[in-house]
Parts: sequence; structure tokens; C-alpha cells
Amino acid sequence: MRFEGKTVVITGGSSGIGRGTVDLFLREGAAVVMGDIDSAEGTSMMASLGDAFHFKQTDVTQENEITALMDFAAEQTGGIDIVFNNAGAGGPRDAIDEISGDDWDFAMALLLKSVAMGIRHAAPHMKKRGGGAIINTASVCAFQAGFGPVAYSTAKAGVLHLTKLAAAELAQYKIRVNAICPGFIQTNIFATTLGANDAEKNQINTALGQVAAGVQPVARPGVPNDIAETVAYFASEAAGFVTGTHLLVDGGLLVGSQASWDPEMPGMLDALLPESMK
Ligand code: NAI
Repeated sequence: MRFEGKTVVITGGSSGIGRGTVDLFLREGAAVVMGDIDSAEGTSMMASLGDAFHFKQTDVTQENEITALMDFAAEQTGGIDIVFNNAGAGGPRDAIDEISGDDWDFAMALLLKSVAMGIRHAAPHMKKRGGGAIINTASVCAFQAGFGPVAYSTAKAGVLHLTKLAAAELAQYKIRVNAICPGFIQTNIFATTLGANDAEKNQINTALGQVAAGVQPVARPGVPNDIAETVAYFASEAAGFVTGTHLLVDGGLLVGSQASWDPEMPGMLDALLPESMK
């Protein structure tokens, strides 16, 4: 019960990583206030998760809805201690030489401005509490090409820098700000971004499990609880000296080329060896 007496606000908690994080914080004794655009799922979670769970339909692209979510959380539970700015989607998939300005703006509103406004409107509540912890969802896409669309990846890189700057500005109020960079986590985000129907969704999720198991040293896809545990660490007193940084939670996806960790792959030096030296 690491979070008894604490209030945590989680965005994008109707599905995937956010849902796993809702479950963890409820198990650990927190009051959880969840904001998501998906009101059907949020309402059904209200019916099943008990009195410590609160839901407010929230579109994180709308600043006034983020303000309302934070105010609602404080009204319902007395204040805010922890915020997980997590809602997101793959967004527009167009290449940089094809994307429209409107699509670019949408991706930034969904993935970057939402995090900035989440921090902006949580901070006054946390100041009243005498401190707090904010955790933002970035991605491995912040570091390398090839994992996500250009607008998505650019926004996620922005989330990392925003995390540092906010940590610097809010330290005086005892508010810590950190980010998590998930790798391949088995959720619906890939199917949703590709516009898949239910049957295609299942096929995509099966394929994701197989692909993820082969592209990184830890031979399995991530699950939402892998990220939830990292959120809990950043939110806890154990991380009291940790702010303005990020943690890759990616099964080693970014550790190096496949030859560096896969014993079946010839290494670069092996490729240089003449036959007589092999
Ligand atoms: P998901 O699709 O399972 O969940 C995303 C949630 O965000 C859904 O509940 C959805 O309704 C909500 N959402 C979408 N647009 C919203 C809006 N405008 N306002 C409020 N809520 C909205 O996806 P997943 O994987 O759990 O994604 C969570 C976060 O993790 C996202 O920020 C995503 O970019 C990030 N991420 C996911 C990775 C993965 O492999 N699954 C890898 C790296 C980052």
C-alpha cells in the first residue's frame, strides 16, 4: 500500500499503459482520478473499480478539459499528489514531405501540448499540497527514426525536454518531473493508429508479440504493468532525489545493433575476419 492517502491523476487510463497504471495505484491504496476521451470505457470502469476510482471524460487536446480534470480531482479527493500525463495515439502517419500543417498541429496538441498543460494545471494543486510528482509518457521514438511517425516522434522528443525544463522550474515547490520511454508495449495503440477493425486488431497484437520478441535482448513484448511499475517508482519516495530525467523501459531495444546481443548474428568484427582466421 505504497500510495495510501495519495491522489493520482492518470490520463489515457481507459486502455493499455494507462489502464495498467490505474490498476497498480488502486492496488497500492491511492485514490485514482482518470481522464480519457473514451467515456464508455471510463464509465464501465466506474461501475467495477470501487469508490477509490473516479472518472471524468477528458479530451487532452483541449486545455479547458485538462483544467477541469485537475479541479475535479482536487474536489473529489482533497488535492493532487501525482500526475501521469500519458494519453496519446500514433496520430498522423504522413512523411515530413507530405504532412499538412493541420495534422502536425493535431499531433503536437495531442502528444506535447497536452503534457505541458497537464503540468501547468496540476502544479497549482501540488503547490497547495507542498509538493508532488509528475510523470510523462515519452517513447523510444524520441531517440531514433524507424519506430513511429515523424510528428509523433518529434512530439515525444519534445516531451523529454519539457520534462527537464519543468523539473528545473518546479523544484522550488518540491514538485519532481520525470519521463518514461516505453519500447514495444502490447497495447491497442498500433491497431488504433492503423485504423484496424476488431479482427485485424487481434492479428496486429499477435504479430506485435512475435516481432517484439525478436528485436531486443529481452525476448518478449512489454506489458502495461512494466510501465506502471516505473510510474510507481518515479511517484514514490524511493525516487525523492530523482527529477528531470527519463527511464527507457524497452527490453533493451536501444542497447545496440542486433549483433551486439544476439549470439546467432555474426558481429561486425567477425565480418572482417578472413576465412583462415574464423
Ligand atoms: P492505448 O491506445 O492502449 O491507450 C491510449 C489511451 O489514450 C486510450 O485510452 C485512449 O482513449 C486515450 N486517448 C487517446 N486520445 C485521447 C485524447 N485526445 N484525450 C484523452 N485521452 C485520449 O495506447 P498505449 O500504448 O497505452 O499508449 C499510452 C501512451 O504510451 C501514449 O502516450 C503512447 O504514445 C505511449 N507509448 C506507447 C508505446 C507502446 O508500445 N504501446 C510505446 C511508447 C510510447
